[in-house]
Amino acid sequence: ATFQRVCFSCHSLNRVGDAQLGPDLNVPYSPVEYLGDDKLARLIRDPQSLRWWPNARMSAIDRKTLSDADLKDLLAYLHHMAGRKVAAPAAGS
Ligand code: HEC
Repeated sequence: ATFQRVCFSCHSLNRVGDAQLGPDLNVPYSPVEYLGDDKLARLIRDPQSLRWWPNARMSAIDRKTLSDADLKDLLAYLHHMAGRKVAAPAAGS
């Protein structure tokens, strides 16, 4: 539910969702796999703290929008989903 409220407007998950502004957050890799919890948490609070560029469109998500407890749940959810990926389509499709 937290994911849907805070992230789903810009990111799909397992290729589900209409959002195409940001990358899918589970396939081919989940950010919990390539960033890990600490860096991912940092990115959510302040995307520019991890990788800076002027055209970034992801906004920082503050504690009013996403409490620390909800952020923890969200990371747990992403770990859970990382074990439930849909198959990636063939290259080029
Ligand atoms: C306003 C739209 C928006 C929202 C809301 C949003 N994102 Fe993003 N996100 C983006 C965009 C766009 C990018 C691509 C980089 C950029 O332009 O900032 C991105 C990039 C990312 C990346 C980096 C992916 C990579 O490998 O480069 C992660 C991880 C991520 N978002 C996670 C999240 C999570 C988790 C949430 C919910 C807590 C969230 N985002 C909410 C738009 C959004």
